[in-house]
Amino acid sequence: MDLNSVAVFLLAIFLWPSVISEMLTSVDPPTELQVTDPGHLGPLHIRWKAPLSLTSKNVCVVRYMLYYCNVDSTNCKRVITKQLEYTDGFNLNKGIKVTIQTWVKEQCMNGTELHSNEVEIVYWPPMEGHADSKIRDLQCIVYNLEYMDCIWQNGTNVPRDINYALYYWHEELEQAVECNNYIKNQGHSIGCHFQSDEIIEFTDFNICINGSSEMGQVRPAYYTLQLQDLVEAAAPDKVNLTFTRTDTIYVQWEPPAGKMKPHCLEYEVQIRGKVSDWESKIIPKGATSTFLNVTAKSMYCVRVRATVNMFCADDSFWSDWSSVQCLPGQSEGGKDVIIKLNFLTELIVLIALASVALVLCMSTVYCWIRWKRSIAKKFNMLLNDDTKNMEKSSSINC
Ligand SMILES: *[C@@H]1O[C@H](CO)[C@@H](O)[C@H](O)[C@H]1NC(C)=O
Ligand SMILES: *[C@@H]1O[C@H](CO)[C@@H](O)[C@H](O)[C@H]1NC(C)=O
Ligand SMILES: *[C@@H]1O[C@H](CO)[C@@H](O)[C@H](O)[C@H]1NC(C)=O
Repeated sequence: MDLNSVAVFLLAIFLWPSVISEMLTSVDPPTELQVTDPGHLGPLHIRWKAPLSLTSKNVCVVRYMLYYCNVDSTNCKRVITKQLEYTDGFNLNKGIKVTIQTWVKEQCMNGTELHSNEVEIVYWPPMEGHADSKIRDLQCIVYNLEYMDCIWQNGTNVPRDINYALYYWHEELEQAVECNNYIKNQGHSIGCHFQSDEIIEFTDFNICINGSSEMGQVRPAYYTLQLQDLVEAAAPDKVNLTFTRTDTIYVQWEPPAGKMKPHCLEYEVQIRGKVSDWESKIIPKGATSTFLNVTAKSMYCVRVRATVNMFCADDSFWSDWSSVQCLPGQSEGGKDVIIKLNFLTELIVLIALASVALVLCMSTVYCWIRWKRSIAKKFNMLLNDDTKNMEKSSSINC
């Protein structure tokens, strides 16, 4: 036993009677519960003070049970903390209800736990303007991790001079900043273009779109996004097909160029024969080649698209399809080339060409025969010295 533990032991013996004497039978709720908005478009600070009756009794373990959610939501969170403040992200489109309780246990309560009454507060974010003036359907897509475009629809009932503005905040920003590069349609902002240094993954990306109008106030709309779940990769590149055996095609491709991590991708490979529909095969975990079974060594076409796999994001969009590659040896630039139709067109062109050639040939032969005949007639005329016949025959030409 060192000196410290001896001191603690002696102190405990000395304090024991006073602990017993302070055994509680009830406990008060916290005081001065308040919710404040630091202007980060989602996070709110919740603060409170310890109940006065407890501040002198330092021996007790005092904890606070917080319970909070949007006013009409059942999806509430419960947090137990020894601190006197708590910060979390909220949906600021609605009111927020917070309740708090004091919990005291152990030394003061002989092993059981004592709960105070609840204190409740409802916080209303600023909700100016009519609900129909609020933007609708915000859609954000992070293209190949290179940039993000967010587009929205106007509210259903908005003044003609409406001017929406987008503000955003994430943990690396001190305060909310306005969009730097609006996407416009006929002079009105309908979206925002974010460059790669303005986007951040794996943390809350908070957006507020509010607006101004001469004719009244505009209801702000709040969103909290996780940008890694909104990624659309570029289309895979350089799809290469080879027949390995008569019944197998080996397909290889390159991952989309850029910042996407190759192991974060999965692919869908589609194949179809001359007349069949596309058949799909999913290639998980970043592999960039596969074997496809085929029935005969005839023409096959293949295309590939990419998406972020479940190991790197909860959600994502599919890329565009790669260009269609066909075997044997025919590459088609377009997306949905219909081979059957191509074949038909070729057949028609061939028949047309053949007919034209035939007609040309036949008319040449015909003319040649007529010309031969007229020569023969002239020759006869010369022999017979008949001028009338000669005039008649000169009108023949091709
Ligand atoms: C503490 O708890 C024990 C058993 O749980 C009980 O026998 C004892 O009476 C309690 N003491 C007080 C002061 O409540
Ligand atoms: C829109 O929201 C931003 C960020 O909260 C704020 O600074 C700005 O004053 C608001 N504009 C209007 C017109 O309410
Ligand atoms: C396609 O794949 C085959 C077999 O792996 C290889 O020999 C060939 O060089 C590749 N072609 C291209 C254009 O990558």
